[in-house]
Amino acid sequence: MLKVAFVGGNAGTWSVDSIRAVAGDALPAVSRLAVLEAADRFMELGGEWVLRGETSFERYVTSQEHAALEAASPPLGRATSSAAALIPIRKSDGWWAKPQEERRAIFEERSHHISRSLPYLPRVARRLHHSRQLGEPFDFLTWFEFSPRDSAAFDELLAALRTTEEWSYVVREVEIRLTSAG
Ligand code: HEM
Repeated sequence: MLKVAFVGGNAGTWSVDSIRAVAGDALPAVSRLAVLEAADRFMELGGEWVLRGETSFERYVTSQEHAALEAASPPLGRATSSAAALIPIRKSDGWWAKPQEERRAIFEERSHHISRSLPYLPRVARRLHHSRQLGEPFDFLTWFEFSPRDSAAFDELLAALRTTEEWSYVVREVEIRLTSAG
């Protein structure tokens, strides 16, 4: 498990292109984002805001899906991935009140989250961070890296996911688009 802090402020290797509220409240405008792994003194960076999360085990993936994901998933930090998106998401109490098998049915059988996303690999590299158990304002901090050439494809995937039954449970979503500051 990797602890990660996303610090919005005026320091960090990612330059912020835009911050847009998709659902619920936005986050304050900042010019830079720092992504700090395994850091616990991140406030020293003096950010405007800090979002904390940690990687975790898979909740919904079957062994077959896991194998398909493993085979197609590229690593983070590719030299060509100069574009990124941080999309913090909170789901409703109604989502969390459902039993695991019902959440899986909505996530994959009815919304096809994995099957519709797989064709975007390996263009998009991703890492999912869980925040809910840390008492954070968001449940998930989703992180994606890709080449600027694949931005349109990434937009297309986002638009498709947002039409799904799964997304009807999203009560807060902020889309933060980034460019590597070198
Ligand atoms: C790039 C291709 C993508 C792939 C291959 C992918 C795959 C997955 C997988 C396998 C999971 C389940 C993890 C688990 O079992 O716990 C997951 C969860 C999630 N993904 Fe994606 N995803 C992709 C893109 C996206 C995008 C564009 C978004 C939009 C922000 C997104 C948002 C989420 C969220 C919020 C969760 C957590 C869902 C929950 O636990 O309720 N994903 N994704």
